Amino acid sequence: MTWMITGGAGYIGSHVVKALVEGGHRVVVFDDLSTGDPGRLPDGVPLERGTVLDRDALDRVLREYAVEGVVHIAAKKQVGESVERPLWYYRENVEGLRTVLEAAADAGVRRFLFSSSAAVYGMPDVDLVTEQTPCEPMSPYGETKLAGEWLVGATGRAHGMATACLRYFNVAGAASPELGDPGVFNLIPMVFDRITQGKAPLVFGTDYATPDGTCIRDYIHVEDVAAAHVAAARRLTDDPAAGLVLNIGSGEGVSVAEMVALIAEVSGHTDLEPEVAPRRPGDPARVVASAEAITKELDWTAQHDVRSMVTSAWAGWQLRHPE
Ligand code: WQD
Repeated sequence: MTWMITGGAGYIGSHVVKALVEGGHRVVVFDDLSTGDPGRLPDGVPLERGTVLDRDALDRVLREYAVEGVVHIAAKKQVGESVERPLWYYRENVEGLRTVLEAAADAGVRRFLFSSSAAVYGMPDVDLVTEQTPCEPMSPYGETKLAGEWLVGATGRAHGMATACLRYFNVAGAASPELGDPGVFNLIPMVFDRITQGKAPLVFGTDYATPDGTCIRDYIHVEDVAAAHVAAARRLTDDPAAGLVLNIGSGEGVSVAEMVALIAEVSGHTDLEPEVAPRRPGDPARVVASAEAITKELDWTAQHDVRSMVTSAWAGWQLRHPE
């Protein structure tokens, strides 16, 4: 059977495509190349260029490749940008998803996997975030992901689709330097950006109620994220009634201070003392997944540690910034 991967030419999408192909699945990538890059795709994987708002293009690709499963990853994903442009985020992320779901339902697709985010939880006030922790998104971005989960669930129930919504925690690392994250909007690339310019890394707030005062996150290697998709794809094939909502996290918290020290060590820039900057608005003190449900449901656990995330991310950064 063939899976259509929307956003398959992006950072996370291309890792999912690679893992599905290595798992013996046939895939077709549907991507508008707004942030994606065809060079990320394994040889022989077809790329159909189009936007998820284009119903005709979706219909054609679903029919032409006889698609039986969809992995919907294409989305806008910058929290700050979503605050400034909520209408655009709702159109791209919610109307885009709705269009893909409608096309998939009409084409008789029976399996649907959706990229969600830990952003649905907002500021969780718990040690480990379970899927039962209340969802109170703090940004339009998080809202679009939560609304997306509702859409996916309702469509699955109404149209007899097996569905899974996967809530990514802090994705990092790369399978190879060419597949590294091209963006600079998260902690690891932001620190690389500073230190390679000879500037001190910034730590946004050291007065949080955490052991070292800096925020704690659950970093997860993008290859582990991809492996979770392969496991979920298998599950949706075996279980036509599945309606899963699962965290993809390691269950381990790492503080910003620990991460910045590790990045300095791996990159060899230990000379630059981190600089304390004011808290970034909207940052929760601690967001760490409980990985119990995904381990139980998909027999998946994270295999890579933060060091391998930073090392592989650094190799990718150096490839893209040879200067
Ligand atoms: C991590 C920590 C910063 C840069 C965001 C989205 C989330 C998901 C992943 C998409 C925070 C601190 C950062 C720096 C710092 N996105 N930091 N200095 O905010 O946990 O999650 O990306 O699905 O929805 O909200 O990730 O990497 O931006 O920040 O101190 O130069 O690092 O304040 O505590 P975040 P992040």
